[in-house]
Amino acid sequence: MSPDHTSLAGKVAIVTGSGRGLGLAYALELARQGASIVVNDVDEEATSAAIEQIARAGGNAVAVVAPVGPTANADALVAAALESFGRLDILVTNAGVLRDTVLWKMTDDDFDTVIGVHLRGTFTCVRAAATHFRENGVPGRIICIGSPTGQRGNFGQTNYAAAKSGIVGMVRTWALELKRAGIAVNAVIPVAATAMTATVPYFAAAVEADAAGEPMPDFYRHDLGFGTADDVAGLVAYLASDAAEISGQAIGIGGDRVQLWSHPEPVVTGYREGGWSYEALADELPTLLEGGLQSVGESFPPLPEALQRPRPSA
Ligand SMILES: NC(=O)c1ccc[n+]([C@@H]2O[C@H](COP(=O)([O-])OP(=O)(O)OC[C@H]3O[C@@H](n4cnc5c(N)ncnc54)[C@H](O)[C@@H]3O)[C@@H](O)[C@H]2O)c1
Repeated sequence: MSPDHTSLAGKVAIVTGSGRGLGLAYALELARQGASIVVNDVDEEATSAAIEQIARAGGNAVAVVAPVGPTANADALVAAALESFGRLDILVTNAGVLRDTVLWKMTDDDFDTVIGVHLRGTFTCVRAAATHFRENGVPGRIICIGSPTGQRGNFGQTNYAAAKSGIVGMVRTWALELKRAGIAVNAVIPVAATAMTATVPYFAAAVEADAAGEPMPDFYRHDLGFGTADDVAGLVAYLASDAAEISGQAIGIGGDRVQLWSHPEPVVTGYREGGWSYEALADELPTLLEGGLQSVGESFPPLPEALQRPRPSA
């Protein structure tokens, strides 16, 4: 790793949803490492502000204001990289929206919107970038953003869990399909204080400290792996660099913590000659599965009293 922040010099990156939040932090860090950036967002004002911020920090960036999801917009992102900077090396699929509600209240539109931005947006953008990489012999780097919800499930997030676990499933598949072309595809599972997490009461004391320009309490940074967007950005830049040769991995990061997530694999295996009838299962499955049953959802430690904040009134 070069200590002089030139690990991505001469490279070009697309970061979707980079007008604010984590995407902006990724764009800034990729630029700091020397890459030119295609900033994409649906929020025109945020996009212009992001371009200015990157320029002020000495970087190069162009804007594409368009929603990810449709194929034409994915193609437009690749075209913008080629037209503005003459090449494309890195894609970060980060754009996201939430439409949280429990299953029985979730509308078709809630479901389709989240799937359209996260899952379809990731698919169309990666297809466009990977096609360019393969056709031009570019050993590209693709970083797709997952979520703890996709890994573990979460109350009120049917649509988001489907999209985010789907993204990690696609990453595993793409790591296989793109290996021969020398293209690496990894998932980052971030946790950070952004507009998405700012309203969660459990994180209120951390968000409050961050807004006041103070370091977040250790409980958040260390025990929960919850920090700022900048804490996540280094991993995205690292995975975008030639230094990272890994592919098909899901790496969690937040605050002071970095983690490698496992991929699902069988944890209990049983055999029965002639196969497993209903009767045989009723007889033997409970004992076979005992001790191997999996937990669902994330479990958080109780919030220390000093960090508890009154819930905002509805
Ligand atoms: N904040 C966290 O702790 C956390 C945890 C896990 C995963 N994530 C994921 O990280 C990514 C960024 O989240 P964030 O917390 O920075 O959220 P954010 O809401 O601050 O930023 C998301 C950005 O995406 C943009 N966007 C929305 N729809 C778009 C579309 N169709 N096309 C282009 N841009 C679009 C938004 O305008 C916004 O600027 C998301 O994929 C999110 O699911 C965040």
